[in-house]
Amino acid sequence: MSTLEIKDLHVHVETKDGIKQILKGASLTVHSGETHAIMGPNGSGKSTLAYTLAGHPKYVVDSGEALLDGQDILKMTPDERAKAGLFLAMQYPVEVPGVSMTNFLRTAKTEIDGEAPGIRQWTKDLSAAMKRLKMDPKFATRSVNEGFSGGEKKRAEVLQLELLKPKFAILDETDSGLDVDALRIVSEGVNRAKEANQFGILMVTHYTRILKYIKPDIVHVFADGHFVKTGGPELADELEENGYDAYLPEGADSESALA
Ligand SMILES: Nc1ncnc2c1ncn2[C@@H]1O[C@H](COP(=O)(O)OP(=O)(O)OP(=O)(O)O)[C@@H](O)[C@H]1O
Ligand SMILES: [Mg+2]
Repeated sequence: MSTLEIKDLHVHVETKDGIKQILKGASLTVHSGETHAIMGPNGSGKSTLAYTLAGHPKYVVDSGEALLDGQDILKMTPDERAKAGLFLAMQYPVEVPGVSMTNFLRTAKTEIDGEAPGIRQWTKDLSAAMKRLKMDPKFATRSVNEGFSGGEKKRAEVLQLELLKPKFAILDETDSGLDVDALRIVSEGVNRAKEANQFGILMVTHYTRILKYIKPDIVHVFADGHFVKTGGPELADELEENGYDAYLPEGADSESALA
């Protein structure tokens, strides 16, 4: 049983116009086997939270903690965080020309496990995982994400999740841009991986449709840099119905900045 504890996280980025405060006291606790959905308006800081946990150098932590089984991950390098059991499926997965998917996946697996997987077992696992995600075997020899369609990139993220077996997975809009069949295939991949490894999931999404496949235990509203409400699955339906107006600071609608 593992626990990821995010405590009162404050984070800023440096922009050309000065400092922009993005996270303003984000706190959340996730245990193994739990699925938390995080929903909130565009620009509220959901991806910033994901990047901060993964260790993106652009995001500067002013205060707060993120503890994985009591260990402060904010003091670790991004690869140490991955080895500690943290996984991020990015909202916009990056292309890595010149590095093949097989090379990338095998290297990541070797680094995370501390030893190279046996070649026969690995080849079998990789091809079985790709088959289950309905990925053409040709993807194995292509460069990571290079020229992949939006939906193909999301499938490749879930392929990594299935093979790397983290303790906690942050899925940042893994459902966006997927056609109906791909949404089901990707969701089944996440559910399979969870079934096998009982990890904790933080799933950032704008849509309730993925929640029909990946059932959240807890739904959070994230607005203006922190969590503002927590509830059960019914909260997602309420948000779809009523939007986020009730959770935004006064006057903070999207047009105010342009007025
Ligand atoms: N590197 C950066 N430089 C400047 N501003 C940034 C940077 N990263 C994030 N921001 C700003 O911080 C705010 C939060 O961005 P973030 O991507 O975390 O939002 P989000 O909640 O994930 O939104 P979405 O639902 O659209 O994905 C936005 O206003 C964004 O423009
Ligand atoms: Mg985002």
